[in-house]
Amino acid sequence: MNRQATLIIFHLSIMPLENLFGSKGRLVLSALLVCAVILELAYCQEEAQQQKINPGRKPKPSITKLGRSTNKSPRAVTVKPKIKTTPAAPAQTFLTQVLNRGKFKKVVDSISVQSGDTLELRCRGKPVQWSVPKYLEEDDEGRLSMVQQERYGVLTLVNTTGADTGEFSCYPMYCEDTDCRKEYDKAVKVFVFFPDPQELFVPSADYYEAIQLRTNWPTLLPCQVTSPQAKVTLHREFPPVEVAVDGTEISFNVKRGFTIHRPRPHHAGALFCVASLGNLRQSSTKYMLIYVNYPMAPPAPVIQASSSSVTAGENLRVSCSVVGEQDVAVEFTWDYPGQQIGRPLYTQDSISPVGGGAARQQSQSVLLVDEVRDVDQGTYTCTAQNLQGAKSVSTTVKVVPKRNKNHKN
Ligand SMILES: *[C@@H]1O[C@H](CO)[C@@H](O)[C@H](O)[C@H]1NC(C)=O
Repeated sequence: MNRQATLIIFHLSIMPLENLFGSKGRLVLSALLVCAVILELAYCQEEAQQQKINPGRKPKPSITKLGRSTNKSPRAVTVKPKIKTTPAAPAQTFLTQVLNRGKFKKVVDSISVQSGDTLELRCRGKPVQWSVPKYLEEDDEGRLSMVQQERYGVLTLVNTTGADTGEFSCYPMYCEDTDCRKEYDKAVKVFVFFPDPQELFVPSADYYEAIQLRTNWPTLLPCQVTSPQAKVTLHREFPPVEVAVDGTEISFNVKRGFTIHRPRPHHAGALFCVASLGNLRQSSTKYMLIYVNYPMAPPAPVIQASSSSVTAGENLRVSCSVVGEQDVAVEFTWDYPGQQIGRPLYTQDSISPVGGGAARQQSQSVLLVDEVRDVDQGTYTCTAQNLQGAKSVSTTVKVVPKRNKNHKN
């Protein structure tokens, strides 16, 4: 499963490649070693009556992604409270980690929990709502539980694996009667690494992932390590070289992966990450970077008829033109009065460079109407579309009857 599915999968046509290599990311369930790690997201040490909240089912669109699939319904991460509460005094939120119950240690934005161990998070609030990595949201295999106690919520994840690595957040809820909303400003987030002795990268079900590189749009190569200690480098498959990561053009974040900040055509190709820790060295999923000339904005078409008033029998030309970035395709579609009587569409499309230094071009579509008839009178609409969007423009044309012979003398 592509658990960091934040990127758009482009050409499906390369999918058959997978058959050549085989796939299936392996999920290694590490030996069970229950050493409870408790994070207290705020002060909430009071032992309270256990009050199991029945998590409601969250509707989910069918998952069509490759990889680990399941028929099981996802476990909801929503705790819908029925308790009437009074707003709590503004809480100072911070994190503490407990290795043994009763022994707390303050933590910062990320922690590591050995895979196989149990993660236990506590968050002060009555009630609280949790969010978990997407992968767990879709299928936790019964390993995740969320319980609301009187003063705090508890999230427990057992039999953890490197694949659980990601952000866990808690949102205290503000309730009036049964109406509750998240208090976003009081949200507490922690990034949890689950170092796995066998898997330096969070496993992916796919052998490769196709990623669109859009002109000047930051692109993420989501090779996520399971251990913050892993040393991660970026590599190009052909020619086989290590890609320089200067922190400006390309940067690395241990919680996300590599970001190419302003993609250019030379960034395209097959790339992968390599992680090393101790004497272990592993490669990530391969990323097929496909460069796309991506426009900065939707097109701004201009429409013009050869004449706004045409005599029946004469020819009409309606032109629609867009000036935009070079190598950015613009597609034109037309709506015209003659459509109703089945007049075929006849257009002449062209692209021509625009002078003046900047790499710009004019795309044009000219609609030709031969021997205009009454039915050709009306509104002509041109729609220009590029990858950023579409815009329509219209003009109206009047058809004037032909003067008959009697008037001609
Ligand atoms: C956790 O792992 C143990 C040992 O493999 C197993 O018996 C138990 O059912 C697992 N628990 C869950 C909730 O998956």
